[in-house]
Amino acid sequence: MIRWLTLLFLTGWNVNHGSAAKILGLMPTPSPSHHIWTRALMLALVARGHRVTVLSPDPEKRPVANHTDIVIEKAYEKIADSEYEYAAMSTQTFLENTLTWFHWGQEACEFGMASEGAQKLVALKDKEVFDLIIIDVTLEECFLGFVPIFGNPPVIAITPYVSPPWFSTFVGNPQILSFTNSYILPFTDHMTFLQRMANFMIHSYVLYYRHFHHLPIMDNIAKKYFGKSTPLPSEIEKNISLVMVNTHFSLDYPRPLVPAMITVGGLHITPGRELPNDLKHFLDEAKEGAIFFSLGTNVKSSQMSPDKVKAFLDAFSELPQRVLWKWESDSLPGQPKNVMLGKWLPQNDILAHPNVCLFITHAGMLSSQEAIFHGVPVVGIPFIADQFSNIMKLAKRGVGVELVYHTLSKQSVLDAVHTVLGNHRYPKKEHKIQAYPALSIRDRFLGVEFVTTVKILNLEIRG
Ligand SMILES: *[C@@H]1O[C@H](CO)[C@@H](O)[C@H](O)[C@H]1NC(C)=O
Ligand SMILES: *[C@@H]1O[C@H](CO)[C@@H](O)[C@H](O)[C@H]1NC(C)=O
Repeated sequence: MIRWLTLLFLTGWNVNHGSAAKILGLMPTPSPSHHIWTRALMLALVARGHRVTVLSPDPEKRPVANHTDIVIEKAYEKIADSEYEYAAMSTQTFLENTLTWFHWGQEACEFGMASEGAQKLVALKDKEVFDLIIIDVTLEECFLGFVPIFGNPPVIAITPYVSPPWFSTFVGNPQILSFTNSYILPFTDHMTFLQRMANFMIHSYVLYYRHFHHLPIMDNIAKKYFGKSTPLPSEIEKNISLVMVNTHFSLDYPRPLVPAMITVGGLHITPGRELPNDLKHFLDEAKEGAIFFSLGTNVKSSQMSPDKVKAFLDAFSELPQRVLWKWESDSLPGQPKNVMLGKWLPQNDILAHPNVCLFITHAGMLSSQEAIFHGVPVVGIPFIADQFSNIMKLAKRGVGVELVYHTLSKQSVLDAVHTVLGNHRYPKKEHKIQAYPALSIRDRFLGVEFVTTVKILNLEIRG
């Protein structure tokens, strides 16, 4: 009792109303989609007056006041060297896929910690103090080693990768496997007996594997770079105070949540901004509507086999709609007249365009959320990870159909497109599916929930 009273007293005493905090962001994952999401959070904190230091492979392109980048250099080159064949991974089983991702994380940890950037941050030991550490700890637990060297400030773990089971473990969130579809399995919240069994077994195996194989590797990497005497990631993670996961009730299934687990799905979404002229013109003139086709940031079009590319081209040439295709090479032999290519396309702003009537996507979580937000139905071609389960969620909501990659043909593409565009079950742009509340998720979450939750951490971080 005395201890609690002291704590309460100290908490009240220390709160410095309205003051800015110094926040360290550890965002080491070499995947552009992770950064689209984590960046939204860090920039929103800067905009609210905090000072932020971010360790990541994706520095801001232009300098931002009160925002310091420490770059994990060459991370993308290194992960590309390992030649993960994302397209080929579409035929892996869920377990193989999961294990591949753990391995991916181990490699990224090893070269990430060896980077000059990470070493620069290690060298700040005893020189810098942070009020809070926010870490994307989806797969790279070795970076938790930074927590003790900066004096154990409170830690918030975040992930754009839906809500992996270990995030529940961090804060003791219940995982009721009879209706909580664990992890990335393509089941809904209404599972058959066999699905529930598979759900239970795979869930248990993933946690077992993480605990007995993955974490010891992380501990070893941390020992190598932080010294033998500092606490290990497998211990430090038990100190995580709060987690924020990328799920939202409009798309994901119902599940119980403890107060320390906050769902911030869609955090990265903004209303559509002005498009570059060529894109705007192409979409404005699409009288029959426009289809946006992008397989995200991991699967490159060049990884698609020529027969699949031909299947898309043949199918698109028969459609009255215009097609905007994210294609990474300079040319595409046999490109039909109604198809426009772009290496880098502002996806969120394109989906917001009123003429876009269909999104052909790999059904990554961020893309699925953007589609829902902007009211565009989808044809989903899942390859890896959570994509299978995301398209299932969209299908269950009646806003998408799945197209299987390895049996893909001109006919299957046309069938999928016609199912969505020609069927009244799927919403038209006129009656938007907008399941997200109209106000920005980010403002809602940062404005209210964030303040209350960081207060629990004996910190006053406004906004
Ligand atoms: C940077 O942060 C300080 C407080 O730490 C604040 O006074 C200042 O206005 C911020 N600058 C900008 C450009 O946001
Ligand atoms: C957990 O946090 C407490 C309080 O800051 C600290 O004393 C302890 O060493 C931390 N544990 C680990 C394993 O870092």
